[in-house]
Amino acid sequence: MNLTVIGTGYVGLVTGTCFAEMGNTVTCVDTDPAKVAQLKQGQIPIFEPGLDDLVKNNVKEGRLRFTTSLAEAMADSHVYFIAVGTPSNGDGSADLSQVLGVAREIGEHMRDYSVVVDKSTVPVGTAEKVRDVIETELAQRGETIPFDVVSNPEFLKEGAAIEDFMRPDRIIVGTDSDPARDIMRQLYAPFNMNRDRTLYMGVRDAEMTKYAANAMLATKISFINEIAGLCDMLHVDVENVRLGIGSDSRIGYSFIYPGCGYGGSCFPKDVKAIIHLAESCKFEPKVLRSVEERNQHQRRVLYLKIRERFGEDLSGLTFGMWGLAFKPGTDDLREAPAVVLLHELIGAGARVRAYDPVAMEAARQQLPKAWFDNGDLILATHQYDALQDVDAMVLVTEWKPFRTPDFHAMHKLMKQPVIFDGRNQYEPQSAKQAGFEYVGIGRKS
Ligand code: UDX
Repeated sequence: MNLTVIGTGYVGLVTGTCFAEMGNTVTCVDTDPAKVAQLKQGQIPIFEPGLDDLVKNNVKEGRLRFTTSLAEAMADSHVYFIAVGTPSNGDGSADLSQVLGVAREIGEHMRDYSVVVDKSTVPVGTAEKVRDVIETELAQRGETIPFDVVSNPEFLKEGAAIEDFMRPDRIIVGTDSDPARDIMRQLYAPFNMNRDRTLYMGVRDAEMTKYAANAMLATKISFINEIAGLCDMLHVDVENVRLGIGSDSRIGYSFIYPGCGYGGSCFPKDVKAIIHLAESCKFEPKVLRSVEERNQHQRRVLYLKIRERFGEDLSGLTFGMWGLAFKPGTDDLREAPAVVLLHELIGAGARVRAYDPVAMEAARQQLPKAWFDNGDLILATHQYDALQDVDAMVLVTEWKPFRTPDFHAMHKLMKQPVIFDGRNQYEPQSAKQAGFEYVGIGRKS
């Protein structure tokens, strides 16, 4: 099949590349000419394991193309995936301007029966808006071309996006049109080889499924973070509690790791958007509001523990920070707890030496220049270099090389042997035996 994918961010690029890998001819469209030029040469603007080789190979085989012209891409295809951003507006609602802008352009260039697929995470009712915009464009041209708008949300985790696309838990297709359902069935057949994972449902149901999935996962995280806070007060080790509740198959072990809060491009934005959606229909989202509130607090929890230990004025103190990305496996700093902590520490007068295995370049480019100019933030050359003469080490992202560090080497490098473990990576007892003062999240410390 010939496909058009609009937007070459995480979702668009992974979607287009994986469909090309299955033998389709895919044209990816982006309005940014520099990005398109880079992609044509096989340079990938994001860090995503496995994506590099897949893009290069499919470009070489002629199955994957990049262009800035939607009209050109649409000339050869009848299935268009919308995979552009839906950032938060100031009030928490999803900004649909890019989605609707693309819909307008699709309406301008549509020639015959087409299937328009919403991949972007969008509020319930967006497919209807997309339909209205396209119909208005067609009417202006005096055309009555039949088309369908399908909701097909993505469930891709950064760092595991290729695996998630190739071996999905489920594929959600929201449509009430038989021809559109048949096209989607054909398209996803190679991803359903040993059993059909596709769930067909109404368009609005599919839109809601995506928000509900992310909100449920965020709820699990905020729940365990709240329990961890209580454990801190009651002298209980949350790690034992986590294992104790996870063994109940109704609860399960995943997404109940306490930490310094969830970040990234999805959970914070989508929880805000579903809250806004509820408010817009005069429904009080009591649970979701608490999930959001707990996470706002949780992203400050390391700073609050540091303040409790070192006092309000941190001037003259230096902290060694391990991890900047919002989670391991990515260089993404969006909504990262590390960035929240940097603001707090530097704001209180501290200096920070930071190290991340992958996100150093992103940090250099995206964090405030003044921090580097004033020497408030130093990017270390190595994880141990980040600990040179520091008053405490703070682990924010649980990258694998941070899991079993050389405590002896750390102790020798640091001015004061204090560890703030924002992801409960170390056994408090082992850290203490190695001569460290240890502060975790809900770990009797
Ligand atoms: C998420 C969803 O998992 C994915 O299905 C959706 O399509 C996009 O949003 P992603 O943002 O890549 O994916 O990250 P994810 O691995 O889900 O982690 C999100 C955040 O939760 C991270 O900051 C992570 O550190 C945090 N987290 C996760 C916890 O604090 N505790 C946990 O137990 C799990």
